[in-house]
Order: sequence, then C-alpha cells, then structure tokens
Amino acid sequence: MADENNPNGGNGSSNGGSNIKNGKVGLVERVTTGVKEDIHALKTDIPAKAKEQIEGLKDPTKTQVYTSIFRHKHDDTPRNRALGVLSNVFLHLHPAKINRDAVRYSYTWGMGGITFYLFIILTYTGVLLMFYYHPSKVQAFRDVLYLEHDVPFGKILRNMHRWAAHLMVIGVWLHMFRVFLTGSYKKPREFNWNIGVLLLVFTLLLSFTGYLLPDDQLGFWAVTVGTNMARATPLLGHEGPFGSMLGMTPYNDVRFGLLGGSIVDANALLRSYIWHCIGIPIVASVLMIVHFWRVRKDGGISGPAPVMLEAEADKPRRGPKAAGE
Ligand code: HEM
Repeated sequence: MADENNPNGGNGSSNGGSNIKNGKVGLVERVTTGVKEDIHALKTDIPAKAKEQIEGLKDPTKTQVYTSIFRHKHDDTPRNRALGVLSNVFLHLHPAKINRDAVRYSYTWGMGGITFYLFIILTYTGVLLMFYYHPSKVQAFRDVLYLEHDVPFGKILRNMHRWAAHLMVIGVWLHMFRVFLTGSYKKPREFNWNIGVLLLVFTLLLSFTGYLLPDDQLGFWAVTVGTNMARATPLLGHEGPFGSMLGMTPYNDVRFGLLGGSIVDANALLRSYIWHCIGIPIVASVLMIVHFWRVRKDGGISGPAPVMLEAEADKPRRGPKAAGE
C-alpha cells in the first residue's frame, strides 16, 4: 500500500517525511495496513466461498470438482452434446451421433445389447462363484451344496449365474435371427456376421464347459454324450472320416484332448474349469470388442432410412445450420 504521508511512496528507508525519520513507525503502519487488508479479504472471501459451496449443494454441476471431470454441458447445442460424449472416456465408446431409427427396439429387439449385458452379469457372478468353488472331484459337488445351503446369498448367486447363462444362449440366437431378418448380414457387414458366428460358437462353448463344473449326474452325462460326439470328428476323431487313416485312436484323438484322458474324470473337470473361466471368456471378450468396433466402422447399426416424425415436420431446426438458413 502507498503511504500517504510519505512523498517517496512510503519507503521507510528513504530520506525526508515524518515516517522516514522513524523507520519503526513506518513498519508498524505497513503491518497494520496489511493485517487490515487480510481481515477485509477474509470478510469478503469466506462468505463468497461459502455462497459458492451452498450453490454447489443446490446444483452439483456448478462445482469445480464436477466441471473438472465433465468439461462440457450436455444439453445446450448439438456441438456441445457431441463434445460431451467425445471428451469422456466411457461415453466416447459410443458414437456421438446415431441414426435414431436404427436403435429403436422395434428394429434391433435390443438383443445384442441384452446379450452383452448378460455376459457382464455372468463375468461378475462367475468371479464371485470362483471364491467358493474348487475344480476337484473331491470338492466340486460339495462346494455346490455349500453354496446352495450355507454361503450367504450363495443360492441367488449360483442361480443368477445359471439363469443369465440360459438367457445369454437364447439372446444370442434371437440377435442372430433379427440380424438375419433385417438383412444386416449383407454388404458391408459380412465380416461382422462372421465374427458373430464365432461369438455364437463361443457362447455355446461357455455354456457347455460350465455344465460339467457342478460335477453332478446331469453335467457328467451331458459331457459324456457331447464329447463322445467328438469321436466322429472328421480327421481328428478316431471314429470320424479319415481319422483312422491319420492314426487316430481313443488315446490321442480330439476327444482325448478335450477330456485330458479317455473318460470324463478329474482331468476333464479341470480342463472344463480352465476353459470356462479363462480361455473362452478371454477369446469371447476380444471378439466382442472387434464386433462392436465393426458395428461402428460399418456405419452404425444398419437401420431403416431415417424418417422425420410427423410431429417434427413443422418444428424449426436447432443448431448452427438452422441459424445460418
Ligand atoms: C456374444 C454374442 C453377441 C453379442 C454380445 C453381440 C452384440 C451386438 C450388438 C450390441 C450389436 C449392435 C446392434 C444390436 O444390438 O442389434 C450387434 C450387431 C450385429 N451383430 Fe452381434 N452380437 C453377438 C452375436 C452375434 C451373432 C451370433 C451374429 C450373427 C451370426 C451377430 C451379427 C451381428 C451383425 C451382422 C451386427 C450388425 C447389425 C446391424 O448393423 O444391424 N452377432 N451385435
């Protein structure tokens, strides 16, 4: 602060003026002025900050924390809404703009999304089940009984996993059926259809490998029948066409590889477990990433030609283009 009594600007060490002669007085005055300024600032700053915080409680989107995470409003202009999507790591996985008619449930049945959602549920409940399950002949079935009767929420956990698995198989078939009915397998989506076929196979394999894990009669016989069919695989099964010519026997063919032996036993249980919990989910996840990426690269979900609703026909257009018109 400038010292009014000091022609040299209040510098106690300079010559002339009453304060200058006595350096102590100048210092005290400056400290007092500084303290006064601080008190004044506190008096104005604290209420201002308090006001800001109260406003923040009323509307969290105005707080500094919120705006540091979300840089753009999502509801004012189409450009801002697009930026809101593009600048968020999770939202940017979706396209900023889509053909509204292509995402109608009446068109997609929502089946691809539901199938994916079920896969997420299966992964989550599956990891929790792994905390209680041991893939050994001695313990597997006991663990299932333990889950059913003793583990808190064990029964619902196991059933969520089972039902989600059944629904995923139904969902993937329905999704494929809708893609077929809407002709969405045609150019340029042939590649994605093929990725889809692989996803179907891996979904069924997930289901099949999970079947053996409870080590009950149902699973044991289902896997016995299923793997017996592998005997007849062309070239790779010992009963299949050309199998014996290639030297296939019950002890070295594809069935032997699947079971880790010639009968459904401890090795088969362990192999099922590893395929079910690690191998197949990883491959299926990678395929799903490719599948979703391809949907965007192929121009989004196929969809019917965009139409304008009757109610919208007379409405003025929004956005910068409308202003320039
Ligand atoms: C784990 C299995 C699968 C998941 C999670 C999945 C997920 C999705 C999702 C979310 C979409 C966006 C459109 C929609 O929801 O309908 C989609 C599109 C598509 N899917 Fe799948 N899908 C799976 C299996 C399949 C199968 C088995 C096929 C066919 C054999 C297939 C072929 C396609 C095709 C061609 C599209 C593009 C459709 C269009 O543009 O209209 N998908 N998928």
